[in-house]
Amino acid sequence: MRVKETRKVIIDCDPGIDDSLALMLALSMEELHVEAITIVCGNCPVEMGFSNAKKVLKQMNRLDIPVFKGEERPLRREYVNALDTHGADGLGESFLPEVPGYEQSMSAVEFLKMRFGKRGRSMDQEREECSVIALGPMTNLACLIQQDPEAFAQIREIVSMGGNFRSYGNCSPVAEYNYWADPDAAALVYEETAKIGKKITMIGLDVTRKIVLTPNLLEYMKRLDSQTGTFVQEITKFYFDFHWEWEHLIGCVINDPLAVAYFVNRNLCSGFDTYTEVETEGISIGQTVVDSMNFYKKEPNARVMIQVDARQFFTLFFSRLLGAEEKTLDLIEQLVPDSGYQAREVRS
Ligand code: BDR
Ligand code: CA
Repeated sequence: MRVKETRKVIIDCDPGIDDSLALMLALSMEELHVEAITIVCGNCPVEMGFSNAKKVLKQMNRLDIPVFKGEERPLRREYVNALDTHGADGLGESFLPEVPGYEQSMSAVEFLKMRFGKRGRSMDQEREECSVIALGPMTNLACLIQQDPEAFAQIREIVSMGGNFRSYGNCSPVAEYNYWADPDAAALVYEETAKIGKKITMIGLDVTRKIVLTPNLLEYMKRLDSQTGTFVQEITKFYFDFHWEWEHLIGCVINDPLAVAYFVNRNLCSGFDTYTEVETEGISIGQTVVDSMNFYKKEPNARVMIQVDARQFFTLFFSRLLGAEEKTLDLIEQLVPDSGYQAREVRS
């Protein structure tokens, strides 16, 4: 069922293969008004992320959306990219042609301060209602907190792809990449969210690991819309190979689009409200410490998602991206297993 309301969002990301799919999804959704894209260092350096965002906007015919370059390194930790996962160009070694120009006069953090800070708000009351979907390390958001905590408090909602509760990590036994890459930023965002009495939605590996784009699903995409399907194939090939090598999975986990999909359809995931902190030191650096049993007796600052309806996700993903009617997507039931996918959990 389509939601009528249009919600304003800023997408903070590090594109990145799955970030690019998330951007494509967001730009295909009539429920969303993407005000801007802010880039952070993560999967690839900021300059490369900026260039990839433009390539995606070109593909979607949406070069009207501003893209702001953000922080080039984590708050305290040394920067570690994920080009081993996303390819030398950050976009699955598709080496798509560069899209020239498009430089903005301010940085991502300056833009966020302007958008959510007093100045921006007094310019236009309407502008208060804007959320952030965070698909990369949270360095830009953390800098916003450091420079203008009041502006941060004005963000209507934050949905973050990151962290993990029961699922194992993808960068260490216990940590997920986005929070591991800048644990101090993630810790500050969760801490500040607690301070202002809000809740951040955590779309972590527990749910995203169930979102596997398989060769059959990709083939189905191409049959439904050859141009979009071929583009997705071009940027995911490298990702498929990576997943086979690392997880013994035929397909690839597309984490980030789930955060976008959930933002629009709250029935896709379920979980619980709880207090959560992010570890910033030691062997469990970057781990989300989710107080599910309420040991700390602290007010929840997070909505931790633990269940997902993968079929419903793909129905939404395909219908929006490929412009197909949901009711015609009958093959999804056959192609997405009810019991989920099984990646290798033990390497031997
Ligand atoms: C997250 O890390 C990145 O590699 C992906 O883009 C996603 O945001 C998954 O751990
Ligand atoms: Ca990402």
